[in-house]
Formats: sequence, C-alpha cells, structure tokens
Amino acid sequence: MVVDSAKDCVVRDVDGNEYIDLNSGVACVNVGHCHPKVVAAIKNQSERFLHYSNTDFYYPEVIDLAEKLSALAPMGSEKKVYFGNSGTEAIEAAIKLAKWHTRKQLFIAFTGGFHGRTLGSLSFTASKPTQRAHFHPLMPGVTHVPYAYCYRCPFKQTYPECSLYCVDYIDEQVLQKYVPPEDVAAMLFESIQGEGGYVVPPPEYFPKLKKLADKYGILLIDDEVQAGMGRTGKWFGIEHWGIEPDILCTSKALASGLPIGATIAKAKIMDWTGGSHASTFGGNPVACAAALAVLDIIKVEGLLENANKQGTYALKRLTEFKERSAIVGDVRGKGLMLGVELVEDKETKNPAPQKAHEVIQRSWKRGVAVITCGVSTLRIAPPLTISRETLATALDIMEDTVLEVEKEA
Ligand SMILES: Cc1ncc(COP(=O)(O)O)c(C=O)c1O
Repeated sequence: MVVDSAKDCVVRDVDGNEYIDLNSGVACVNVGHCHPKVVAAIKNQSERFLHYSNTDFYYPEVIDLAEKLSALAPMGSEKKVYFGNSGTEAIEAAIKLAKWHTRKQLFIAFTGGFHGRTLGSLSFTASKPTQRAHFHPLMPGVTHVPYAYCYRCPFKQTYPECSLYCVDYIDEQVLQKYVPPEDVAAMLFESIQGEGGYVVPPPEYFPKLKKLADKYGILLIDDEVQAGMGRTGKWFGIEHWGIEPDILCTSKALASGLPIGATIAKAKIMDWTGGSHASTFGGNPVACAAALAVLDIIKVEGLLENANKQGTYALKRLTEFKERSAIVGDVRGKGLMLGVELVEDKETKNPAPQKAHEVIQRSWKRGVAVITCGVSTLRIAPPLTISRETLATALDIMEDTVLEVEKEA
C-alpha cells in the first residue's frame, strides 16, 4: 500500500482505495489518524517555534508534558522524565539510567521481547533472529530468560498448575547459578509482548516477578512503547497487574505519529547528574504539543473506556470464532491489543506463517489493513476511536479470509 492520506480509522492509498486500519500505523495513532486537535496543536506550535534544545533550555510544553506523564505513570509519587525521539531511545535511556543509578552491569531480558534496534536496546530484543543477525557483539551482560507465553510454555507446563515456574526458574536456575544477583541492575520486560506475538502473561506473573526483583534489589524497567497510551484499556499495560515498575518507557502513540519517546522513573532513581545523558531533539516542542493533545483526547473522548468496550466485544467474538475455525489456535489480549494466533492444526500447534501471510494479503485486498506479529499471529490494534460497526466490518472480513484460507489448505 502506498499511503495517500488517513483519517481516524481509515487509510486511503494513492489509487483511491480505502482500508479500515487494524494496526494504527503499528500502534501509533491511538487517537485516530490526523485527529483535528492533534493537527491544530501541531499547526499552532509550528507557528510559535520549532526547536530550542531541551538539553539546555526549557519551554512550557516540555514541562507540562513531563508533569502530565508523571501524574499518569503508575509508580508512586515523585517521578522524573527524560525525553528522546523514539522507542529505542527511551529504552537506551532506561538502560543507562539503571546502570548509572545502581552502578551494576548485568540485566535480565525476556525471549520474545522487542525493545528496539539500536545496539543497546537490540541487546535485549529477542523476538526474531533476523533482528540480531550480523550485528554481534552486542552489549555484554544481558541474560535472556523465557517469558510467560502460556500457549507455548517454554517449560511445557500448563497454567495454573505450573505455579508460574517461569519465575522460579529465573531465581533457581539463573540468579542462583550463574548471574550473580548483586551485579544485576534491572529486568527489562514488556507488560504485553508486542512484536513477539501479543503475548499476555497470567495475572500472578508480574506480582511474582516483582517479589523476585525485590528479594535481590533488582530494578524493574517496563517497556510500554507498544502497550502504553491507552492501547490496553488502561494508560499503561502494567496497570492490569497492579505492580509498580521503577522505570517506564513510552513512545509510539504518545504524539500520534510524531517522533517522541519518554523514560519516566521514580525521582530517587533518576538521580544522574546533568550531562550524563541528553538528546538534541528530545522533547521537541511540536511533538510535545501533539502529545499534550493526545493525552487530552484520550481523557475527554473516553478512549480508555472505548478500548475496553470494543476490546471486550472483539475478544468475545474472536474467542467464539476460534471454535469455528480449524486454524485459530489462540486468541488473547487486553483492550484493543488483541492477537489471533494461527496454527497448522490445533493438536500440534505448529505455527502457520504462510497462512497468516495469506490472510493479511487477502484482508488488505478486501479493505482491511492488518499485519502480523510473532510467528503467525494476526495483530488487532485499531485506533481506540473505532466504532462497533467499523470494527465488526473489519472482523467480518478478516474472519472470512481465515475460513477461506483454511478451506484451501
Ligand atoms: C515494545 C517496543 N519497544 C521498543 C520499540 C522500539 O521503538 P522505535 O521503533 O520507535 O525505536 C518498539 C517498536 O516496535 C516496541 O514495540
């Protein structure tokens, strides 16, 4: 698709074809494409000034945004915020901050995680080998452990009988065997894995992980770059588990498509000195103005509520669809961050990447812009503004194409 224009939940290509957007420009336009308030904020700010580096100066937009994000982030009272220009920069800042604050060198990361492609964040990214091939050596000191992907439990266990052995494993087999916990600065995770396949851990997972981190004084860095900004029906995905991370990263949907990233930390942790870290364009005033509009829109238009409402509808419908389809192995998600995992057959659970590819190609031809994640998961992440009617139309088409593809196999 060659994009010509986009408005709310619909993208138009240069040939005049229209598509219902089920991916939001990869989870970036949660408030819908070109929301009038975002466009107005950008225009207004562009006429005032475009840049005056936040490395050395202040302006109200950056302060206002830092205060508003601090108020929203689920981590106790006092916080500080660092602004970069992307998700990967938000993660780089978090890694450096954890090192700086703790004076420790080691990290725990999770298989299936995606945290960006610059060399620091790439060292934590582990969702596809192509992302890392030919780029070694990466940052040393990062040990990957299995994530709680219950549909494909890496330990071949079944939830809840497993009692979350995946967390015990980190303690018993990693920290007590070869990664000295006193040298571990932080664990870096996504509250819901995005690129890894829209994978949702069970309710006890993060509370148990937090208990483990507390046992050894290890910081928790929560990557909310994809799950944040209302996508899951809460401001940040981790709120579904009720734990407080020490550092939280957000980006993507924060400024509805303009480049910005934010690293929010407990104030006592973001204690590095001036000059330890900075970025010329970080906290650009136009991006900040757009982000302020986004926060306002999510609140005023009740988009968390709509994400929950439409997400509940879609999850129920897709779960029922799973029973009618021979190749839908798993349906999972929160709010409007939903994954439909396709398999060759439900017994073997062998992933079906070719079938997933075929489904998205045919859906696109019929006017639904949907992409995959993981190996063969359809990624349902429309703008949070989507109406029941539009969502139902898109799901009708997507389900039809799944049935078509499975019949032809
Ligand atoms: C969870 C997560 N973290 C980090 C990133 C990296 O963000 P960016 O592409 O803006 O560097 C992404 C991008 O997809 C992401 O999904």
